[in-house]
Amino acid sequence: MIDFDKVFPLVYPSPQQDPKSLKFLADLLNEFEPKTILEIGTGCGALTTMLALSGAKVVSVDQRDNPMQYWEHLIHEGKIKAEDVDITFHKANSQIQETADLVKGIYDWVLIDADHSWAGGLKDWDLYSKMANVVGIHDIAGYDDKTKNNDKYDWFPTRKWHQLKRTYNITRETPNLPAGGWGFIFK
Ligand SMILES: C[S@@+](CC[C@H](N)C(=O)[O-])C[C@H]1O[C@@H](n2cnc3c(N)ncnc32)[C@H](O)[C@@H]1O
Repeated sequence: MIDFDKVFPLVYPSPQQDPKSLKFLADLLNEFEPKTILEIGTGCGALTTMLALSGAKVVSVDQRDNPMQYWEHLIHEGKIKAEDVDITFHKANSQIQETADLVKGIYDWVLIDADHSWAGGLKDWDLYSKMANVVGIHDIAGYDDKTKNNDKYDWFPTRKWHQLKRTYNITRETPNLPAGGWGFIFK
């Protein structure tokens, strides 16, 4: 369980997540209590830290060098305990089969927030979405094609989200955001 008021100052400001989305995720973590999470796109490691502080075992992939510094710094500062965060980080290109093989498994949640191009996002979707029954993608809002041709433009999260909402009966999303936000499907 996450005490959001305590965790929020540790993970925000994060360059990638707005407060509403962090709250949305914290509420979802508390509601569903996933035990295992695969995160594609670690970024700076702030969200990874929040996911782990919920009690989940987190496996995270990014091509960046050292996002571990984020949670290691908090541990060093005494703000969190090492035993409170179970995170395995892989520096790797998420879009290749070798990486999918490396993290292969059944997770409670898969979160996709890496390459946002249509082709790149779709690669991640094809490789990882099958590894969980609950899948979240980030940056679903605010990038709509101005021509309304939402099935053609090059922004994976929004375009895919339009499709997913037509496919899955149960979806949840960060409410009322001009841009960004998470969308979750429950298969
Ligand atoms: C929007 S950021 C992730 C933010 C993170 N989820 C957070 O909340 O802080 C996108 C990340 O995806 C990573 N990325 C982009 N393409 C990638 C690829 N092909 N393989 C691995 N990581 C990739 C980038 O290095 C970047 O850190």
